[in-house]
Amino acid sequence: MKKIISVVGARPNFMKIAPIHKAFQKYNGKIKHLICHTGQHYDENMSKIFFEDLELPEPDFYLGVGSGSHAEQTARIMIEFEKVVLAEKPDLIIVVGDVNSTIACTLVATKLKIKAAHVEAGLRSFDRDMPEEINRLLTDAISDFLFVTEKSGIENLKNEGVTDDKVFFTGNVMIDSLANFLHKAESSDIHEKYQLERGKYVLVTLHRPSNVDTKKELKALLHLLNTVARKRKLLFPIHPRTKSNMVKFGLDNTLEKNVILTDPIGYIDFLALTKDAELIITDSGGIQEESTYLGIQCITVRKNTERPITVEVGTNQLIGVDLVKVEEAALKVLDGKIKKGTIPDLWDGKAAERIVEIIHEKLLQEK
Ligand code: UD1
Repeated sequence: MKKIISVVGARPNFMKIAPIHKAFQKYNGKIKHLICHTGQHYDENMSKIFFEDLELPEPDFYLGVGSGSHAEQTARIMIEFEKVVLAEKPDLIIVVGDVNSTIACTLVATKLKIKAAHVEAGLRSFDRDMPEEINRLLTDAISDFLFVTEKSGIENLKNEGVTDDKVFFTGNVMIDSLANFLHKAESSDIHEKYQLERGKYVLVTLHRPSNVDTKKELKALLHLLNTVARKRKLLFPIHPRTKSNMVKFGLDNTLEKNVILTDPIGYIDFLALTKDAELIITDSGGIQEESTYLGIQCITVRKNTERPITVEVGTNQLIGVDLVKVEEAALKVLDGKIKKGTIPDLWDGKAAERIVEIIHEKLLQEK
């Protein structure tokens, strides 16, 4: 029997591994699929609630590494994950996305001559100031199998000299989770909890270091939210990084009453909020994709995106960080001038099945 360890660490990883874990059940008896949680995210509402919402089993390994500087966090993950790999001797590890856990575990596995598969490979913002861009570049450079969500990924990998035999255009596993759990979101009572009228509120998420780690940027963003709040109610589930910076910079009491601040929200409730929002203002990567799939208006407050398909064919508008322009764009949407979109190729809820089938074939070839 072949053994595979999938790695999760931070919030955006859980919804990507859930459909992969489910797809492996078809190969029960042939492939043993284990889950390793590095503990990069550890708060109940950043981690545990996602396991429950996504019907994921308890992880087989929990490394408990927690927060720290990039070097500390990455190094701690490597030290602990190496012990797991040495003890378990898997045939393959699977990593997803672009967080520190992704690169740390890929580095460990490949140096121990264990094959690595990267799901969500090839995405590039071309902005090396983002820690995630470094993680993406390095993970793709050393992985054996690269599973791509959108066509730009194929191009980017080609331009970096990656050979075609490693690259598989399989679609978007995060959309698999969305499609799987949309029915559950229908029965969420989150709108009632915050007295939100469906289709008439703005959902906000902001956590990128470039937006929230300096007082000037964060203050300007909060000012923007206050301006939009004159038109609509805003719901702003706040990431721990953003929350601690608001307190640190003395900005925690600067938001108008119409901006509802909440703790981070679980997967199902957040999906319910996404699908019924009139507009989303975000700097997240995943939410650009989820809103495109659902046809919900999205304004991305960043200078670049590693997910250009959401702008090319989807409902995402990449406005940049000039907040006058962001405000203009937001008010336009709230005035009914919306961007129409379509769903990108292969975002059909079956990406994990395709990935697992390819992995199964490749592992069989190795016998
Ligand atoms: C990480 C990812 C980012 C992803 C984001 C999603 C990297 C480099 N960044 O950023 O790509 O978009 O997750 O959330 O991997 N904290 C808590 N509780 C937690 C986790 C973190 O309070 O459960 C606080 C800690 O103060 C920590 C800070 O958040 O220092 C940042 O956490 P960290 O894991 O370093 O990065 P994120 O900003 O969450």
